[in-house]
Amino acid sequence: MNAKPKAIGPIPAGYEARDGNLIIGGRSADEWVEHAGRTPLFLYSQSLLEQRMADLRAAMPERLRINYAIKANSFEPVLKLMSTLVDGLDIASGGELALVQQAGIDTARVSFAGPGKRDSELEAAIAARVTLNLESEGEAARALTIADRLGIAPRLAIRVNPDFELKGSGMKMGGGAKPFGVDAERVPALARHVIGAGADWRGLHIFTGSQALDAEALVEAQGNVLDLADRIAREADFAMPKLNMGGGFGIPYFDGDRPLDITRVGEALAERFASLPPSLEHAELFIELGRYLVGEAGVYLTRIVDRKVSHDETYLVTDGGLHHQLAASGNFGTVVRRNYPVAVAARFDAPPEEIASVVGCLCTPLDRLADRAELPRAEVGDLVAVFCAGAYGASASPSAFLGQGPAEELLV
Ligand SMILES: Cc1ncc(COP(=O)(O)O)c(C=O)c1O
Repeated sequence: MNAKPKAIGPIPAGYEARDGNLIIGGRSADEWVEHAGRTPLFLYSQSLLEQRMADLRAAMPERLRINYAIKANSFEPVLKLMSTLVDGLDIASGGELALVQQAGIDTARVSFAGPGKRDSELEAAIAARVTLNLESEGEAARALTIADRLGIAPRLAIRVNPDFELKGSGMKMGGGAKPFGVDAERVPALARHVIGAGADWRGLHIFTGSQALDAEALVEAQGNVLDLADRIAREADFAMPKLNMGGGFGIPYFDGDRPLDITRVGEALAERFASLPPSLEHAELFIELGRYLVGEAGVYLTRIVDRKVSHDETYLVTDGGLHHQLAASGNFGTVVRRNYPVAVAARFDAPPEEIASVVGCLCTPLDRLADRAELPRAEVGDLVAVFCAGAYGASASPSAFLGQGPAEELLV
């Protein structure tokens, strides 16, 4: 081997080899590429999506409702499937509302969070009976004016900027000054105002962070969310029809990451639900998850178009790259670049034979899908599989960059 290797992340459960080939949804990666007609290709496994939801439901208290944050993956077939598995959907823009509508999903099950909602987006959401998670007093005023003009009692909740954060979270969304939500101490006054203005009051949304693998950190954050919601409801003296407790459930991407212990999270929630304060007793209680539901059910397949050596280092140059897999290249929300789980699809169970870097076809040093990974030998024409591609792959990568265009996608 010609250089010091860098570890790759753990291959998620549920992927197996048959005659050496990576199998997804009963067929080999090669067969799926032939079926799709081209690479790069995202494959999303229906059975893995269903299994994930079943396992999660089994671990969580029955009372807990689970929403899907569609920003993680809004490919229409995935969206349609997920809408049958979850209790509601969370959107972050008018564009995502249009995707939900095109998929024929009942928009009364949808809530909309995100700073900077334009008037046209507020109007479309109010007309579609979407619950707006209000991000500011200004947004509340605009929503009430638009609703008044439409003659609709708008479904309004308030997104709270909590005074704590989800510890160890990959992306912090609470604690201190933030562009998201209304500072906790100003929420009671705003709640009284929107209720007084005749809104169809939907309660609170408290999102504390994302990509947490530590169950204790999540348990603590959820406990703090319930306490804060109770404090606000008592101060403002309103009944809480719904409380969206946020999400934050993470998945293992990198070497050393351990899967989240959902049993522990579920048990702690069940304990809290057994002794809720009067303000929350009758509330519908939600979490909203993106990557945890869909991330590990997706694989990105890209074909090796060149194999080259530079200064003793081997490069497998593929027809994909960061324009579809920005996060795997280390350029989306990570400080230090580390390797996602990757494999040579036709040699899925073969031992490593060499150290090679998998790079994309973009003319930038940022375009690296695996850095000095230990892999079985791969040749031009072979497929490389990048795992954990079900969330924030196609939906969060600059596919137009260098005129490349989007990858093919299939739900299988
Ligand atoms: C309000 C809100 N909901 C849900 C999510 C989804 O997070 P994840 O995919 O990590 O579950 C995010 C992510 O930033 C978010 O900001």
